[in-house]
Amino acid sequence: MQCNKLNNCNVILGIETSCDETGVALYDTKNIRLLDHLVYSQIDLHAQYGGVVPELASRNHLEKLPVLVEALICRNKLYYSDVKAISYTAGPGLMGALMVGASFAKALAFALNVPLVPVNHLEAHLLTPFIETGLPIFPFLGLLVSGGNTLLVLASDIGKYQILGETLDDAVGEVFDKVAKKLGFPYPGGAKLASLADQVSDSDIIFPIPMQKHPGLDFSFSGLKTYAINHIKCLEKNNYAKLAYAFQEAITKALLIKVKKAIKQNQINNFILAGGVSANKKIRQTFLHLGLEKNINTFIPPIKWSGDNGAMIAFVGSLYLERYGGIDSDKILANPRLTLENANNELWKEYGIN
Ligand code: KG4
Repeated sequence: MQCNKLNNCNVILGIETSCDETGVALYDTKNIRLLDHLVYSQIDLHAQYGGVVPELASRNHLEKLPVLVEALICRNKLYYSDVKAISYTAGPGLMGALMVGASFAKALAFALNVPLVPVNHLEAHLLTPFIETGLPIFPFLGLLVSGGNTLLVLASDIGKYQILGETLDDAVGEVFDKVAKKLGFPYPGGAKLASLADQVSDSDIIFPIPMQKHPGLDFSFSGLKTYAINHIKCLEKNNYAKLAYAFQEAITKALLIKVKKAIKQNQINNFILAGGVSANKKIRQTFLHLGLEKNINTFIPPIKWSGDNGAMIAFVGSLYLERYGGIDSDKILANPRLTLENANNELWKEYGIN
């Protein structure tokens, strides 16, 4: 096979295995464009258990990752030797799942004698709106809403993040999934709950809005979850759509209140909404509307990049490769609790960012 269509390219392979999606992608760092990507979702594997089973996730990544990389290389008519660097998710995520991706990346980089570029999964999500343009815009206020995280951050550059607020308990996606489960949807039911909510245009169920009087920018969603679950117990099935609607409204308002507060407290020209829950239509519309109202550029990734994927890891890997080169160390960086904060962040330390 020949690297015909990719002559004159500099290809980085990106690998994502932080949770229950195995994602791989090829990004051309020279011409700044995504070449191709593949995602394998383990949802069916975990659905029967009502949530992700970490041990099963690791084993499945181990099984699928080599197959996906091979398929991606082949269908792009590449040789492995055309890969000039490898980026992988260093955290946060499930330890075993991260270790599979990191070890695979490390072994392949060693075999090919190419640089290794560890990537922070949270940063990769935040930069998904720029995968297509290849040019991230800083500074920005970012709201990251996913199954494992709810964060409000100020970003000044790659590797430079200040956390303004985060959830004190459950993440938004987690709460969507738990309430959806109570409504009878299989894991992860967030998108199905949202579709159910979209079947009605109002509701007489009133949810309390959490943390609205709380002075800071932190969030809390476990109270909303308990309120919803208790309400479902005494609700006829034909009222489930109204409950879903009211629940989605309350979550959206809780997010909106804190983002508005952050905008008031900071000079903001750019806003990014990212993460799996950014696929939610109501939440997308709300923040697009806020951007218009406040005259703030609002960036939300296309739905294909809202969930976990390899493209964001290849893209952010290419940014780090260009700025800092690869990490020349024997370490395999896999930290389930890797944060975006700079103090004591082992990943930023490796890159010499402080
Ligand atoms: O970023 P992501 O793919 O990975 C994890 O953090 O695990 O986010 C997945 C989360 C799940 O909780 C899923 O139910 C939620 O995003 N999600 C949604 C929607 N689509 C995905 N939540 C609400 N509305 C949606 N349309």
